[in-house]
Amino acid sequence: MITGYMIVKLGIINSLLSRRQIRLERSMKKIAVIYWSGTGNTEELANSIAEGAKEAGADVNLLAVDSASEEDALSADVIAFGCPATGNEEVEESEMLPYIESLGDKLSDKPMVLFGSHDWGDGEWMENWQDQMEEYGVQFLADPLIVNLEPEASDLEEARALGQKLAE
Ligand SMILES: Cc1cc2nc3c(=O)[nH]c(=O)nc-3n(C[C@H](O)[C@H](O)[C@H](O)COP(=O)(O)O)c2cc1C
Repeated sequence: MITGYMIVKLGIINSLLSRRQIRLERSMKKIAVIYWSGTGNTEELANSIAEGAKEAGADVNLLAVDSASEEDALSADVIAFGCPATGNEEVEESEMLPYIESLGDKLSDKPMVLFGSHDWGDGEWMENWQDQMEEYGVQFLADPLIVNLEPEASDLEEARALGQKLAE
């Protein structure tokens, strides 16, 4: 038979458990992985970074840039932005660049890492992108992750390890 005493006790246990849950959620690092990818190479890196961060206990928001709001970036503790080299050593200019520029100085002090794939160039697009982000005052947590064309298994492992590092 369920007594009033048992109901009160269950209520107390329930409330303690939900407080613990709230504390756990508050202590989880929020990581936004926001990327643009034309043929899927940078997307593969994004997926592995997100997996690594999740494995390390972070609350991860993985988004293609066309579905990301400003708030998705600004509310995160850490951001990983991904974009391949496009144009002539440029960040993709119809979706990624406008998104980055709309955030601009609001990214000041934001812990961050950049990643992306390229082909024939020497990585100039990433250097330019890093310079732009430095002007906004971001804090880089690691060197950019750059791969040539489609990531190999070792690249994806590196991306996963990067995700884990971001969650620390
Ligand atoms: C229109 C276009 C422009 C590109 N420009 C460059 C470039 O300037 N430098 C470079 O190294 N690779 C360049 N690439 C190659 C891409 O960066 C490469 O294919 C990359 O793996 C694409 O990544 P994604 O699958 O994430 O779109 C270009 C590719 C395309 C289609």
